[in-house]
Amino acid sequence: MLLYGNAEFFVNEIQVLLDHNREWAAQIEQEDPGFFGRLAKQQTPEFLWIGCSDSRVPANQITGLMPGEVFVHRNVANVVLQTDLNCMSVVDFAIRNLKVKHVIVCGHYGCGGVLAAMAGNTDGAVDHWLSSIRELYLEHKEDLAGLEQVAAERRLCELNVLRQARSLCRSSVMQDAWRSGQQLTVHAWIYGIENGLLRSLAEPVAAPPES
Ligand code: CO
Repeated sequence: MLLYGNAEFFVNEIQVLLDHNREWAAQIEQEDPGFFGRLAKQQTPEFLWIGCSDSRVPANQITGLMPGEVFVHRNVANVVLQTDLNCMSVVDFAIRNLKVKHVIVCGHYGCGGVLAAMAGNTDGAVDHWLSSIRELYLEHKEDLAGLEQVAAERRLCELNVLRQARSLCRSSVMQDAWRSGQQLTVHAWIYGIENGLLRSLAEPVAAPPES
């Protein structure tokens, strides 16, 4: 097999994206002249989205938000760890500089990261990354054992969102913001890849949790 035998196909495949981009930008400029020029000067998003990298869960599209309206951080299984410099830098910048009003931690059913942690069949870097979800699964293993497999998987996806949202609420960045009087609400959402719908899993949190 020739490694680059299908080079033309691949070039065309990529060219489609560039073509779509030109059409997209032209359409937005037509509907809202000067849109990109204004956006280039500053961004003032009200939302920070922390979600899974899964290609089926695109933050802007499923919430109907335009460029400039949501600051986004995505990683495998929407994990929030205080030791994750990447995630915490995003949270810090969004809160202190952009002054977002809402932080949405969004997971999704059928999350490959959550399912892999549950099955315990990961290795390498992913295994390390998912270790906190593996622990979460082990904490709830007995309860989950009483459910059908699919129901147990869905429940663990939900529990993961709640765990990550709680981890965010306990982070020093969030605690400091609340303590300084900043209006900031954390939302725990889950997305159904099978129906395209978002659902809130808990009451939004607008103050530091007690524990
Ligand atoms: Co996922």
